[in-house]
Amino acid sequence: MKILKDYRILSIDTSCDETSAALTVEDRVLSSIISSQIEIHKKWGGVVPNLARREHEKNIGLVIKQAIKSVSQISNLDALAVTIGPGLAPALEVGIRKVKDLAKKWGKPIISVNHMEGHLLSSLAKNSQGTGPFSKTKIKFPVLGLLVSGGHTQLVLMKKIGKYQLLGETLDDACGEAFDKVAKMLDLGYPGGPIVSQLALKGKPKYELPIPMKYSSDLNFSFSGLKTACLYKIKEQRTKIKDKKQFMADFCASFEKAAIETLIVKLKKAIGKYNPKQIVLGGGVIANLKLRKEVRKVCKKLSLPVFIPNRKTLFTDNAAMIGVCAWYQAQRGDFVKNISKLDRLPNLNF
Ligand code: KG4
Ligand code: ZN
Repeated sequence: MKILKDYRILSIDTSCDETSAALTVEDRVLSSIISSQIEIHKKWGGVVPNLARREHEKNIGLVIKQAIKSVSQISNLDALAVTIGPGLAPALEVGIRKVKDLAKKWGKPIISVNHMEGHLLSSLAKNSQGTGPFSKTKIKFPVLGLLVSGGHTQLVLMKKIGKYQLLGETLDDACGEAFDKVAKMLDLGYPGGPIVSQLALKGKPKYELPIPMKYSSDLNFSFSGLKTACLYKIKEQRTKIKDKKQFMADFCASFEKAAIETLIVKLKKAIGKYNPKQIVLGGGVIANLKLRKEVRKVCKKLSLPVFIPNRKTLFTDNAAMIGVCAWYQAQRGDFVKNISKLDRLPNLNF
């Protein structure tokens, strides 16, 4: 693999409800601009694909402009990168159309990136000074990745960068989606993850809830049964509640415990089966402190190092992780060959 020194990439991600562009040099993030649509989708209790498209269209130009503010001449850019999937089709289309226009206008090559590979490599991102989780430690393969977001819950084995094996994934709802839905049941607002985890701090996990797929031998996840169990439990408790605030906190703590245990059970199973040398975490749900604590506890016992991105903006959707991923792809010569055929792949997987 040829090392591409000082390689500068403008990357774009419009996979869901964040319009994002970043400027990276190799694996260093020089700028990362994220325009969140949360306020727009909040009213609907979830992401509305056509509203997402409209907002991406409105904001993409400005977000890119801000991301490349420090670039004095376009000729200093080496390539453009864009997320092609997985994600919402109408949202992905905006980024792809934009990157095609810019590639033609500026005469630059395009690198198409898998959004989940971006999350998987997000720990490799360094700041502009070259500091990051992997700046002092070398990456040692195989690396096991646990990716937990609003759209995905996956265990992925990284044999080397660019060579992955999907070990397991959710069969229904994603973990973040379950947090969001439980928050909705309790009328807590959107997105639910941060609210539920904050309330859980004030409660005790006193309600018994199922740990989905605990005894299944595979490495898949399931959250829809837990979600339904929550719905019944809330209904059952409704008439018995004396202190609503305390009930909310206790219920959030109970749900969080069950959801995290589901992840931990399968993480342990995957470690036992594949013997990884390092663990990486990625996706919006890793903002959850209890999840991180539990993962660290498991890995400490096994003397397994755990890496998470050093900035919260690298957990949730962002183009910086896409730029880092694209740099590795560029070094493998993985560029888009026929730009006119470049299209979104909403169900792209590893
Ligand atoms: O990765 P992300 O930004 O978007 C997707 O690609 O899906 O993840 C967003 C998800 C949402 O479901 C949100 O509720 C969840 O991450 N989330 C959390 C926390 N912060 C965000 N879930 C649990 N605990 C948190 N602290
Ligand atoms: Zn994501």
